Amino acid sequence: GYKLVSCPDKLFAFEIRNHLNTKVIATRVYYFDAVTSTMDIAMKLGIEGAPEGTLVVAETQTKGKGRLGRSWASPKYKGIYLSLILRPKIAPNVAPMLTLLSAVSVCEAIREKIEVEAQIKWPNDVLIGHKKVGGILTELNAQMDEINFIVIGIGINVNNEKKALIEGATSLKKEKGQEIPRVALLQEVLRTLEVNYLLFKKQGSPPILEKWRSLNVTLGKMVKVVCRHAHIEGEAVDIDADGGLLIRNDTGLIEKVMAGDIVHAGNVNR
Ligand code: BTN
Repeated sequence: GYKLVSCPDKLFAFEIRNHLNTKVIATRVYYFDAVTSTMDIAMKLGIEGAPEGTLVVAETQTKGKGRLGRSWASPKYKGIYLSLILRPKIAPNVAPMLTLLSAVSVCEAIREKIEVEAQIKWPNDVLIGHKKVGGILTELNAQMDEINFIVIGIGINVNNEKKALIEGATSLKKEKGQEIPRVALLQEVLRTLEVNYLLFKKQGSPPILEKWRSLNVTLGKMVKVVCRHAHIEGEAVDIDADGGLLIRNDTGLIEKVMAGDIVHAGNVNR
């Protein structure tokens, strides 16, 4: 007989699909060794009519995209870079819920599989301690009143070496002090996404918002949100059903922000 001493931790489609047992998520998987961005491929597949649940994964991206026009470092075989096509029957203004749902899913999957306390910083940064380990980017193809499809992009720093990480970032390997099997983690992310997506389809936003609130580090803090043209300061009091962050300024007025970068200034003294 033969003994399997090691297997390469590649994200091949058959490895991902092996014992995945999902009904909707990753029913089709496109695997690439290198791409510009998995978002570009998934958006194109979406336009061509790819079914809900179609997954695009790549071992590296030459033009990985982050939020707010930033880039996403995607070193080869080190991270998880995926884009997922979903076709929920929702209005475009509800789409941010799927971003929150994805952040919740990544957080839960990391907690379950890696046993570290991942948390969420609004809107969808996944943190360990104060450092970012993952991020979500969503792109929409929609009409005025209905979504055609949404592409959820997820990037996770898995086996990135300490010295290759930018300031403010971390990787699961750095946090755990050991190499992390990427396929098993990716499968956990996909299964958790499915559970939460089916929950959202059945019960709408409330259970997702509840999970988000229990995992987030932003609410209750004094924050400064830097948006495109201005910045807003105050206490982060809640998120609403659109995924917007509600901030109470020092005059007591509550303002809502839908996008931006957040700086946590500390706990509210009360
Ligand atoms: C962020 O800025 O926090 C979002 C990062 C999203 C990165 C992922 S990696 C897979 C997918 N393809 C991309 O080009 N970006 C997303």
